[in-house]
Amino acid sequence: MSRKSESVDVVIMAAGKGTRMKSKLPKVLHLLAGRALLEHVMDTASGLGVHSMVVITGHGAAEVEAVCTHRFGAATHFDLTFVRQEPQLGTGHAVQQAVPVLPDNGVTLILNGDVPLIEAATLRSLLQECAGERLALLTVDMPDPSGYGRILRVGDAVQAIVEHKDATQAQREIREIYTGVMALPTVQLKKWLALLRNDNSQGEFYLTDVVKFAVADGATVVACKTADKVQVDGVNSPVQLAELERAYQMRQATKLMEQGVRLADPARFDVRGELVCAQDVSIDVNCIFEGRVSLGEGVRIGANCVIANANIAAGAMVHPFTHIDGEVLGVSIGEGALIGPFARLRPGAELGAEVHIGNFVEVKNSSLARGAKANHLAYLGDAIVGERVNFGAGSITANYDGSNKHRTVIAADVHVGSNCVLVAPVTLGAGGTIGGGSTITRDTPAGALSVARAKQVTIANWQRPKKIKR
Ligand code: UD1
Ligand code: CA
Repeated sequence: MSRKSESVDVVIMAAGKGTRMKSKLPKVLHLLAGRALLEHVMDTASGLGVHSMVVITGHGAAEVEAVCTHRFGAATHFDLTFVRQEPQLGTGHAVQQAVPVLPDNGVTLILNGDVPLIEAATLRSLLQECAGERLALLTVDMPDPSGYGRILRVGDAVQAIVEHKDATQAQREIREIYTGVMALPTVQLKKWLALLRNDNSQGEFYLTDVVKFAVADGATVVACKTADKVQVDGVNSPVQLAELERAYQMRQATKLMEQGVRLADPARFDVRGELVCAQDVSIDVNCIFEGRVSLGEGVRIGANCVIANANIAAGAMVHPFTHIDGEVLGVSIGEGALIGPFARLRPGAELGAEVHIGNFVEVKNSSLARGAKANHLAYLGDAIVGERVNFGAGSITANYDGSNKHRTVIAADVHVGSNCVLVAPVTLGAGGTIGGGSTITRDTPAGALSVARAKQVTIANWQRPKKIKR
């Protein structure tokens, strides 16, 4: 009778209201490190190579399902199903709703949508303890266990879980609690779920009652105790959400520092996505990294930078207060480039090696070749800028005519003076010079000086008007 199977189906409970969040947003959609709590759980579960995920929704079901579908609907390596629980009659009742969609062979792993920091390694060892045939409970010792289900043992053997509200005074002394995570053979789960009753202090169908049915059946129940409370902490309030956010960020900071990254202060550092660093990267205080960011060897990031979806090559320096947001197109910064302070790089900014972008310079959907410079107060949009171009202070590309965007091409070694307007589409020939204050509407030839402004006029002996006496 081989019921053993490698196949794991995950049930994630996400129907609860989350009253204590005091928010219109369903609890499991609140963000931690830029991802919804439920996304964290699903990401971790999908890393286990599971067969399917069943998300139990209730409060804000449509919203929750939309977020999951957007993020995982196209996933090919597991089936995603939603089951609605309406009304919510307890955790056992929640899992009962999933019964029709769970295949009989294999193991069911039950997770909570509001426990975001559970790690794959912990779940793998729980599944190992389950071994396709046992009921494995994830437990933890809590300094203050009030509110939780207590693990009742006789000797070492687990006998039952008793909910706090149903527990005797003596049982309430027990510090080992059920974390809300269990793994068990699906056939047995279904059998025991069918036996649940709600004759308890809360009038709910408790999932935790499956333990006593398992024991009555002579099945083996194992408790895997974790020492890592952060992994099993749930989010019920904004305070707990912020605590877990800090715990998560400190873990990411520690990992990076262990790889050699120098963080000025790990407590003032946030990664909301994935940050990959080569050797000898240093990051000053109050920086936020979002999406996918990679930093090459020796890259230095100044204080108070926000950097999203960007690749920054070796030796580049990003000075304080720089905002980089690559969105979908991305931003790339070449080797040895100098960016900021107060620079803004937007999607499609492709900066070559040794490029300089200074204060209050905005670059969008533009490429700048090696050694090009825009050091002060400038806008480059939809532009192709050649090597060694110097783009003067206060100059801009007028890339938008009110309806369409147009290209500006600036060939190598062009010198654009200060306060110029380049009205696109327009091409500036190589090595040309554009006089300061010019509004350039036509292509300029290579090697020439082009000036497009009123000629200076001088009126000798000019008398200023006299002040009128009243
Ligand atoms: C549950 C456990 C308790 C454990 C604790 C760990 C039960 C009966 N008790 O308690 O032993 O120590 O978790 O945090 O299981 N949910 C639904 N539908 C429902 C009820 C709940 O989807 O009808 C979801 C909630 O949204 C939440 C999860 O299930 O994500 C747990 O529910 P919650 O009310 O927090 O369970 P507790 O009573 O705290
Ligand atoms: Ca809870």
